[in-house]
Amino acid sequence: MRIGWNKVNSCSVLVVGLHLGSNPRHARPCLGDNAGDGDSSMNMVRVKRVLLALIVLLVFAQLVQPKRTNPPVVPSRSLEAHVQVPQQVQPILKRACGDCHSNETVWPWYSHVAPISWLITSDVNDGRNRLNFHDWEAQKSPEEATKNLASICKEVRNGGMPPLMFRIMHKESRLSSEDINAVCSWSQSFGPPSQSAGQGN
Ligand code: HEC
Repeated sequence: MRIGWNKVNSCSVLVVGLHLGSNPRHARPCLGDNAGDGDSSMNMVRVKRVLLALIVLLVFAQLVQPKRTNPPVVPSRSLEAHVQVPQQVQPILKRACGDCHSNETVWPWYSHVAPISWLITSDVNDGRNRLNFHDWEAQKSPEEATKNLASICKEVRNGGMPPLMFRIMHKESRLSSEDINAVCSWSQSFGPPSQSAGQGN
């Protein structure tokens, strides 16, 4: 008991001394009883606090779950209902593009983990808004639709689509040069890609 009091007393004296502008080094033995290397142990405390804050943030982030939708497929609205798609090309579009440009997205387990879930759902929403093979009627105009079809070749040839990150995570989405040639001869039948299409990937 007495030792405790002594400690507190000497400590408060040192802290007061510190406040009065005395050499802060005197305060060190009092701030922690493990007063060996004060700086590095303070740094460790800080690192631990930051890590703890990050973990708490990650846990709370899970509460914000974006909507992972797969709207119903209406065959009459699909690309195939409007445009002739060669048999060889159909499965390529499905396996390499379907997760972002169709209504049959296969949502991987990590699409349920924030913050990755936010990035994936926003990619799928953007991709579907641009072109959705299951909702070709959503294209703004026939000209826009043709322009998009024509720019597919350029996208797959220069590696813009599917996006690199997706290709890394989904081996089956990588295209052989044979796949690219098949997609391109179909896509190019809709004309040359427009200047504005496919920029900035
Ligand atoms: C991981 C999701 C994802 C996959 C897989 C994917 N895309 Fe995309 N795609 C997007 C997003 C997001 C956009 C809109 C933003 C952009 O242009 O980068 C887009 C845009 C496009 C555009 C319009 C580009 C422009 O700027 O005019 C074309 C064409 C396209 N994709 C074709 C494809 C094709 C073909 C495949 C498969 C070989 C494919 N995409 C696979 C996400 C994806």
